[in-house]
Amino acid sequence: MTATTETRIHVGGASPYDVVVGTDVRRHLRAMIGEGVEQVAMVVDTRLEPFVDAVADQLSDLHVLVFAVPEGEEAKTADVAASIWDSLGDEGFTRSDVVVTLGGGATTDLGGFVAATWLRGVRVIHVPTTLLGMVDAAVGGKTGINTGTGKNLVGAFHEPAGVLCDLGYLDTLSPEELASGMAEVLKCGFVADPEILRLAESADPSALSAQDPVLRELVERAIRVKADVVVADLRETGGRDGHPGREVLNYGHTLAHAVERVSGYQIRHGEAVALGCVYVAELAHRAGALSADTVDRHRDLFSRFGLPTAMAGVPFEDLHEVMKVDKKARGSQLRFVILDDVARPRVLAGPSEEHLRAAFDALQTSDD
Ligand code: GLY
Repeated sequence: MTATTETRIHVGGASPYDVVVGTDVRRHLRAMIGEGVEQVAMVVDTRLEPFVDAVADQLSDLHVLVFAVPEGEEAKTADVAASIWDSLGDEGFTRSDVVVTLGGGATTDLGGFVAATWLRGVRVIHVPTTLLGMVDAAVGGKTGINTGTGKNLVGAFHEPAGVLCDLGYLDTLSPEELASGMAEVLKCGFVADPEILRLAESADPSALSAQDPVLRELVERAIRVKADVVVADLRETGGRDGHPGREVLNYGHTLAHAVERVSGYQIRHGEAVALGCVYVAELAHRAGALSADTVDRHRDLFSRFGLPTAMAGVPFEDLHEVMKVDKKARGSQLRFVILDDVARPRVLAGPSEEHLRAAFDALQTSDD
């Protein structure tokens, strides 16, 4: 073992915790759970069931309940949460017991929500297995489930007691899943950390692997961006001095959520985020805020990692309707986080329909 196998990123605030990033860091789970615990509820994406024993082996002194939940967003329903609540009741799961999640962002959201609501809140430790989970869902305490009318409409802020980002899991991802996570990494670069963009521009996208020091630095930098933002504005009530606060993490997400919804959630989240970031860069350019070069830099970087930067076949009116009911809209006004430059974000409220439509037109796949 070398001295550099892991990095601890401390997330401050009222309920501080560490995010540990590195190789084989899941071995810290037992220590992170701590003493005085009798039961652990492991909420696991069914695809990750083969990995449960390697994590649960270190918990032999505890009673481990394993809840295998459906893949992806299918897990984030009231029915799945209720069936776990029923079992926790049957097993006498107490306030001193701990929930552990093993999976991607959806598993983290569901398991975090169960932890937030059971007995009004028990501790949760996240072991994210996707890039998206590591750099976004596992950090910052947002938990939630979906309803028939939208994503994450029911939820709670519930910060984890710790997060173990074991980079080895990244080698289990398909290239598309890794690229989807890269969209959130690049988003962090655009809104807060230009070094992320420089590293991504010099990285070889086909060589990204768990052992790659560049990927590790990208993961750590993106987590630091998120940690800084959530410490400053955990509950998304707003930032200071013109900074959007936590809302900055929704850069590109207004259009992304609409694209996901209109596609019936058939598009990967990161792919929708890539489209949304290019869209909002075009919008900022039309609003006189962002240079054409930085718009191009968005296209170059997202496409470098195999992410879409153009689309076809969805009418503007359909996306516009869905964006209007985006839960980030205040009243009837559409709100977007835009950039004046890299790492200079602000909120643009109520852009003109002319600009919204022109940015949409610039996102269309050309026929030539
Ligand atoms: N994923 C956006 C946030 O955590 O605020």
